[in-house]
Order: sequence, then C-alpha cells, then structure tokens
Amino acid sequence: MPDDQRQQDPAERLEQLLRQQDVFAYGISHDLRAPLRAIETFSALLARNSGDRLDETGRDHLQRIRDAAARMGGLIELLLDLSRVDRAEFADEPVDLGLLFGLAAAELQEAEPGRCAHVEIAPDLWVRGDERLLRQLATQLVRNAWNFSEGDVRIVVTGERDGGMREVVVRDHGRGFDMRYARKLFEPFQRLHAPEEGAGSGIGLAIASRVAERHGGRIRAESVPGEGSTFRVTLPAADAPDEHAS
Ligand SMILES: Nc1ncnc2c1ncn2[C@@H]1O[C@H](COP(=O)(O)OP(=O)(O)OP(=O)(O)O)[C@@H](O)[C@H]1O
Ligand SMILES: [Mg+2]
Repeated sequence: MPDDQRQQDPAERLEQLLRQQDVFAYGISHDLRAPLRAIETFSALLARNSGDRLDETGRDHLQRIRDAAARMGGLIELLLDLSRVDRAEFADEPVDLGLLFGLAAAELQEAEPGRCAHVEIAPDLWVRGDERLLRQLATQLVRNAWNFSEGDVRIVVTGERDGGMREVVVRDHGRGFDMRYARKLFEPFQRLHAPEEGAGSGIGLAIASRVAERHGGRIRAESVPGEGSTFRVTLPAADAPDEHAS
C-alpha cells in the first residue's frame, strides 16, 4: 500500500474509495450509452429494411433484442440520475420540506383521482439545503407510500428538531416490508415487492438516501408488514423565515 494511503484516516479513505467508485459508475454508465445506441439503431434498421425477409421466429428474436436494449437504456439513465445527485450544484438555503411533501402528494392525487388520499403534514418542517434535490427526496418517499398502499392512502409527515438537525418522519399505512431487509432498500435496484405490488426499478430510495447524505444527513426505515412503514430522514434544521422581516 502506498505511504499516503497508510497514513490516511480510515473515514477519509472510505470517502475517497466511495468517490472513486462513483466516478467509475458514472464513467461506465456514460460510455455504455454509445454502443447501446448502435444496437438500438441497427436493430431498428434491420427490422425496417429486412424485417419481411425474416420468418416469424426471426422477427420475434429481433423484437426481443430491441426490447432488451430499451430496458438496458432505461437502467443506464437511472444510474446516471443517481450519480447526478452527487454531481449537481448544491444551493444551500432554507427549504420548506412540508411544502415539497404536499406538492408531491398533490401530483400523485391528480394523476390518480380515483384513490382517496389523507395526507397530514405538520407545520414548520424547515430544513437547510438544496430545494431541487430535496424535492426528489420528498417525491420518492411519497411515491413509495402511495405505490405500496392498497386503495386509500394515508400519509402522515411530522418533524422534530434535535439541536442543529431536524428529523422528518414519513408514515404510511400500506403493505410494509420485512425488517430483515431494511438496509437493502437503499441499495440501487433492490426491491422487496413484485411489480404487481407497486415496485418499480428500485432506484428511488437510493436517490433519496444519497440526497440525505449530500446534506450530511441520513434515512432509516422501519416497518410492520401489513401495517405500514416509517421513514426517518435527518437533515440540517432551518428556522422558518420571519414573515414580518422586511
Ligand atoms: N413505503 C413503503 N412501503 C413498503 N415497502 C416499501 C416502501 N418504500 C419502499 N419499499 C420497498 O423498498 C423497495 C425499494 O424502494 P425504491 O423506491 O428504491 O424502489 P421502487 O419504488 O421499487 O422503484 P422506483 O422508486 O425506482 O420507481 C421497493 O421495491 C419496496 O419493496
Ligand atoms: Mg420508489
């Protein structure tokens, strides 16, 4: 091991390794896009120009290649979205997290007016950070509460200040999950439910937890299967801006 690494503080070394891993993931995802685009383009040309010379089995195989390439393209874009959380510019300002949770719930309600949503959000959930990133965090948590509940949705968001940090707690009364896998949820592409039960690509919580980490905070999850889930997000606290100040 080189001398400079041996003398390094373990926490610093870990951070350096994680950064290297991230640069690697970003580089690979980025570079995979060009050959994938070639597969997509040439298989589309093959289908258009020579499709009628293939028999039914041949056309079916070609379609499967095109579907698989499209799925792979989607996964690469998700990995790039994840890397962008660490790369995006960071604006440090007071943000009304309660408002962001409310907006996310309103968007879902508008998209699915047939479901009845009871959303309770405590006042004064002010935190310090980047509004665009925090909006992604709120959206992912509310979307999960929504997707992993059957029928009517109940979401309660509360918060408590602890010194310089604020713990924001998001509770739902949905399917819940098996606590043995609680840590896995935050890894990319890990899902504990089937698509028919509401699961998507398994990237949402990885994005949410990176947003919390980028703010110097974190997320933890608890659940009782069949009764609901609770997500606890710790973020730097901010005071509500004084409305009367000029
Ligand atoms: N509120 C919740 N209640 C029950 N299970 C949950 C909840 N939130 C997340 N999970 C479990 O954790 C898994 C990972 O969540 P995550 O948001 O990362 O992925 P996803 O929702 O499946 O897909 P995506 O967010 O990419 O559309 C989910 O598939 C689900 O099994
Ligand atoms: Mg999700």
